Amino acid sequence: MKTVGYINSYRLQEIERSLEIRIQKEKVQEFCVKHGFELLKMYEEPEESRPDYKPELIKLINDASKREFEQVIILKFDRFGHDDTMRTWVMGELKKYKVETYSLTESKIQLEKVPTAISRAERIRAKVRDIPSLPEIVTKVMEIVQDPRSSASQLSRVIFHDPGLTTRVLRLVNSAYYGFPRQISSIQQAVTILGFTTMRGLVLSSSIFKIFSPKNDLIKTLDYKKFWKHSLVSAISAKKINNYLQFNEEDDIFSAAILHDIGKVILDQYDHENYTLVLQKVSNPLVGHELLAAEEEYCEISHQNMGYMVAEGWNLPESLSEVIRHHHDPMNSIKNKKLASIVNVGNILSHIALDLNSFDAKLFNKEVLDYLGINEDDLLVINSQIIEEIENIGDLESFFK
Ligand SMILES: [Fe+2]
Ligand SMILES: [Fe+2]
Repeated sequence: MKTVGYINSYRLQEIERSLEIRIQKEKVQEFCVKHGFELLKMYEEPEESRPDYKPELIKLINDASKREFEQVIILKFDRFGHDDTMRTWVMGELKKYKVETYSLTESKIQLEKVPTAISRAERIRAKVRDIPSLPEIVTKVMEIVQDPRSSASQLSRVIFHDPGLTTRVLRLVNSAYYGFPRQISSIQQAVTILGFTTMRGLVLSSSIFKIFSPKNDLIKTLDYKKFWKHSLVSAISAKKINNYLQFNEEDDIFSAAILHDIGKVILDQYDHENYTLVLQKVSNPLVGHELLAAEEEYCEISHQNMGYMVAEGWNLPESLSEVIRHHHDPMNSIKNKKLASIVNVGNILSHIALDLNSFDAKLFNKEVLDYLGINEDDLLVINSQIIEEIENIGDLESFFK
């Protein structure tokens, strides 16, 4: 393997600096000998390089683009960590040219310290480093809903201050999904009718749609129209199941079902090249386990776990993050088995309604059906209700505009 090293000392004192550089060089050599790598050269950052300008690094990336080497050993990659943008950019560029990266971490200069390659977890975290945090207003809404002392007017006041959010939430409230006979024209009214938890779900879902709406046509392999349609019909299906079984899960059902596959969008936007390979390999979305396996193979993480990781980072309510994590294996959900099971069945019914022409009982997981207390006849009834509702709902896309 053709290998190069990248070394950079952040020390200011000349003596310390040259000592560190010497030790770093030895570390790279040692690592190459140990692993049988052919060390071609070392890029050594000059003393005067500024934190935001690293000429040797630019040279390295340039040489990587000419395919001059296959892997790079980076010393002090942890120091890159102070600047996420730089680190993400370097990782992205190297990956583009299929260059493997090894990081030799060292908190102290110690020759005997064992070098470690970048772990899988670190690589996965690097994929999502650029995902924006939730807007402040959404975090505020989550806090208000969480706090038993807060009032309806407090919640409406916060939402009302963001005109974009107000419009998006009212559009969802007035959509055919909720089917209110009269137009709901204010947030105050919406909060009174729908309650705190549902409002939180609406604020979250509409903000998350906005974050992940495709930014440009270049970065999408996933068919977004189809994707959101699937998500919406999953929400409709989940609601029908909930009503049919007279369960009491309506508060979280819309947001849990509509966000269940959010990990797919994240992978498509933040690990795009690999996700393209996944979608090329798995053409049939109905075979869930094949998709999950392909995602693990190419992206090192499934859309379930990727969605969960981001949901956790955003501090989403547990009910939502658990459903995102377990919608293909709801029996593994400890705290939200019921909601995850409803979304699991809703997801399959959505595929049946949109992607298949006929009902197929074999697609369902028997254990999940037994847990919900639902049989094939029930599913057939719910299925026909869904088909009817989709016909009535009309223009599905207007939902997300
Ligand atoms: Fe899924
Ligand atoms: Fe799905």
